[in-house]
Amino acid sequence: MKLCLAPMATLSHEALRRAIALFGECDEYYTEMIHAPSLLHGGQFERFYLLNGPEPDKIVWQLTGTEEDTLGRAASQVAALGGIGVDINMGCSAPEIYKYGAGIAWMLKPLDETRAMVRAVRSAVESASPAAPLRLSVKMRLGDENFTEEKLFAFTDMLLEEDVKQITLHPRTRKEKYTRPPRLQYLASFCNYVKSHAPDVLVVGNGAVKDAESMNRMIKTAPDIDGIMIARAAVQKPWIFAELAGNKASDADKACTPGTRTADLFAIAEQFTSDLQQYQPPEFYETRARRFFSYFSDNFQFGHFLKTQIANTSDRDAQLAVLNDYFNKMPDERYVKY
Ligand SMILES: Cc1cc2nc3c(=O)[nH]c(=O)nc-3n(C[C@H](O)[C@H](O)[C@H](O)COP(=O)(O)O)c2cc1C
Repeated sequence: MKLCLAPMATLSHEALRRAIALFGECDEYYTEMIHAPSLLHGGQFERFYLLNGPEPDKIVWQLTGTEEDTLGRAASQVAALGGIGVDINMGCSAPEIYKYGAGIAWMLKPLDETRAMVRAVRSAVESASPAAPLRLSVKMRLGDENFTEEKLFAFTDMLLEEDVKQITLHPRTRKEKYTRPPRLQYLASFCNYVKSHAPDVLVVGNGAVKDAESMNRMIKTAPDIDGIMIARAAVQKPWIFAELAGNKASDADKACTPGTRTADLFAIAEQFTSDLQQYQPPEFYETRARRFFSYFSDNFQFGHFLKTQIANTSDRDAQLAVLNDYFNKMPDERYVKY
């Protein structure tokens, strides 16, 4: 059972990957979505989206876009950089993405239009390194509010015919918010469908995994999935992959007594903010630090207070001073056993 970092705009960048790598056990790092037209246009910030450290061999480049041609050309560029694969974003339902025909809109367009796009991306990925092409994958949701399994499976047939090798299903509909539990029973039926039609295609489950209990609930409901993808909890707890790798019911070889290892939250914040300065443009520092701390603060009893304090800072020294002050008052919260 592999564990993957989810693509998260403004969060799944090199600084977060480095925080996760301090603890290890993340098998695949999906990048934040890379906007295909901007990449091709060569804007001043694009090179930061192409950083692939600290474990370049584990990178999955996620692309978003509205057109077959731009997605195909962007796929050639990222595939030439190596890694595990190229992923097409067909799950993002943020209105600014969906309304323009990207993200989940690809699940709702005429099937042949989406097929042509997938084919263009596959062909670009294959041509980038014909001897050993990167893996083509898709991340998607269940569909629109009126989705049916029949429609979902017809869409899946198309992906399998176009030789997609890994599919991540985030089993919510377009409009369903994260407050609603993911529909794990559909992950199970989807997985059964894929495995009975294309046993070699890998299925990854995503949605609300944040600890061993939620992970094992997903595995119990959909026992044939090949992997689990984690988004928000990986920002809150960069050690979650190590924590889960030691607690998977199915991974007896990695078993580790829960609560015997320690994460130092101040050290993580110090390292993360330093890496953010190093691996992101200065123009992004403030918003990306704030975004990180809005999840990381959930580790603390007075996280809400901390979030507000950090939201009023703009530089690293001030952020670390706020945290230092917090730990002086709440010393027990600095160290987490996992
Ligand atoms: C801040 C944020 C940004 C996201 N950006 C992307 C993205 O770029 N591409 C994508 O496919 N999904 C994106 N997602 C969705 C996540 O990958 C994931 O499907 C969702 O958060 C559910 O997983 P979780 O319960 O582990 O958080 C984003 C989610 C969040 C919270």
